[in-house]
This record gives sequence, C-alpha cells and structure tokens, in this order.
Amino acid sequence: MAQPGQKVILITGCSSGIGLRMAVLLAKDEQKRYHVIATMRDLKRKDKLVEAAGDAYGKTLSLLTLDVCNEESVKQCIDNVKDRHIDVLINNAGIGLVGPLESISMDEMKKVFETNFFGVIRMIKEVMPDMKRRRGGHIIVISSVMGLQGVVFNDVYAASKFAMEGFCECLAVQLLKFNVILSMIEPGPVHTEFEMKMIQDVSQKEYPGADPDTVHYFKNVYLPSSVDIFEALGQTPDDIARCTKKVIEASNPRFRNLTNPLYTPIVAMKYADETGGLSVKAFYHMLFNMGGLMHVSMTAMKYLTCGCLRSRTVSPN
Ligand SMILES: NC(=O)c1ccc[n+]([C@@H]2O[C@H](COP(=O)([O-])OP(=O)(O)OC[C@H]3O[C@@H](n4cnc5c(N)ncnc54)[C@H](OP(=O)(O)O)[C@@H]3O)[C@@H](O)[C@H]2O)c1
Repeated sequence: MAQPGQKVILITGCSSGIGLRMAVLLAKDEQKRYHVIATMRDLKRKDKLVEAAGDAYGKTLSLLTLDVCNEESVKQCIDNVKDRHIDVLINNAGIGLVGPLESISMDEMKKVFETNFFGVIRMIKEVMPDMKRRRGGHIIVISSVMGLQGVVFNDVYAASKFAMEGFCECLAVQLLKFNVILSMIEPGPVHTEFEMKMIQDVSQKEYPGADPDTVHYFKNVYLPSSVDIFEALGQTPDDIARCTKKVIEASNPRFRNLTNPLYTPIVAMKYADETGGLSVKAFYHMLFNMGGLMHVSMTAMKYLTCGCLRSRTVSPN
C-alpha cells in the first residue's frame, strides 16, 4: 500500500517490454516517491517483473490483474486501488499489426483498435472523474512515432495510434481546466517482445488475398529494411522508461514527447509541407526507388538531425 506522500502510479501491460521496465524504474526510485501498481492481464506472467523488481516487490510495487479490453476487469482493478486514488495513469498496453492490408481480417484489425484505442479510453473513463474531482493527476499514453507519421504496411497499427493522438489532443484541453495533465510518449522502434512477436507472426503467415507483387514488396523490401532500422535505431525499454520518468517529474510536462531524436526530422518533414506530398514521396522513394531503405533513411536521418531538432525530443539520459 502507498505510504503518505507517495504518488500512486498505475501502469497497464507490465508483463514485458516497456511496461515492465517502467514499473521497475519507478518502484526503485531512490527517494521512494512512488507506489507503483503494475498491472497485467494474466498474473501467471508476473515472474520476470517480480524478479526485476527485487526488494521493491511488496513495498513500492504491487500487482493487480487488468485486461484493458474488458470493462469489468478495468472497473474491478480500479475498485481494488485504495480509495480509487491514482495520481499517474500510464497507458502502455498495446499490440502491433503489420502486413499487406488484403491479408488482414477485419477481426484482427478490430482487436488492434480494441486494445490500442478503446483500451486506453476504458482506462481514462474509469480514472479521469476522480482526477477531475481532485483537480489533479497525470495521464500518460504510450503512443508511437507511428501516431504522428504513417509507415508503409503498418496501416492499421498506425491508424490506432493516430486515433489516440487525436483523442488526446481534444481531451488535453478540457483536462487542463481541471489541472489534470495529459502527455503522449512517442517512441520509435524499441527492442521488446513487440518486435519479436511481429517477426514471428510474419514468418508464419501466408498472406492469403494479397497479390504476389504486394507480398514481394512486403517480404523482400519492407521487412529487411524494418529489421535493419530496428537494429540501427532501436532504443531499449529502459530508455523509454527513463523518458517517461522525466515526463512524470517535469515541472511543466510537455504534451508530445518523441523519445528518439533521429525521428524528429521525419515528423518535422510532415509539418513542413501541409500538402502531405513531401512525406508520401520521400517514403515512396526510400522504399521503392532507392534500394535499401535502411541505408538511405539512416543517411537522411543523420543528415537532418541537427541540434535544433534534437531539442524537441525527451532524451532518456
Ligand atoms: N516496441 C516498439 O517498437 C514500440 C514502439 C513504439 C510504441 N510502442 C508501444 O509501446 C507499448 C508497449 O509495447 P512493448 O514494446 O513493450 O511490447 P510488449 O513487450 O509486447 O508489451 C506489450 C504489453 O501489453 C500487454 N497487453 C496486450 N494486450 C493487453 C490487454 N488486452 N490488456 C492488458 N495488457 C495487454 C502485453 O501483455 P501480455 O503479456 O498479456 O500479452 C504486454 O505486457 C505499446 O503500446 C506499443 O504500441 C512500442
């Protein structure tokens, strides 16, 4: 249970990846400023978290079951928090989906929105009224750089994160009136199970319904580039955890927080041309005309990343 003066932080999706590392980092805060409620949909998956938390488990870190796709589970979880009092809600749980659109069923697409979009809304609806009443609180959403710039073959995943960005842009204004802060964290690629699940999923799939050219572009052009980009630019879940801690501790937290400076130019390119043509053509040329997307995008990103753009990111260090 939280001690007097400690902030209560509830995080969704803590069985692996970014959620797990955020829970551990915050629970191990040297000044013991936080009590972390790490949640996951299946507590059988708790071992990695418990091991990483060490002594903090049972002291500054406790566990609760929570499936963001289940309204009853969300309500039960929040009812189990003392006085339903949460100072910081971190919406982290999410799933990916990549591949040719023709081969993805409507049910798979709906599952992505159920988790990444409606899952966050379920959480916010449950926690926000109390924050508004108390005139205080911080809601954090782990979005993605793909919530700001679409990436080929990630159509539905990017759409779910774009939807979240739009939703939060609207809500942030209202919440400010109640002294409740809303922040988005926008990582680029991060080495977690997310990436492994994507690669495994892709290697097992046949892509029924997609024409051979599309399957070829996906498997032989996009995928190798994507793997290269993960390898060259990927951050660690600890990087994202440190960025998020900084946002929690900032005296004036920003609404948008890109975590990887190498992605700032890509977002800047989008806003530099309101017709959208620059981004669409740049991505087209990188993928289809210039051979290895990896090499070109790396060069472009390094070239474009100057000090002024870096200052728009929240650095993990
Ligand atoms: N990795 C990246 O490259 C990257 C980049 C940008 C943004 N992000 C975002 O970062 C967040 C965390 O992803 P990650 O990279 O840490 O991936 P991860 O290791 O796969 O972790 C995802 C977590 O979400 C949980 N989850 C999935 N569906 C859930 C549900 N219905 N209810 C509760 N929990 C659920 C998973 O739990 P189970 O163990 O039960 O499946 C897991 O704990 C996601 O929102 C993702 O979109 C990731």
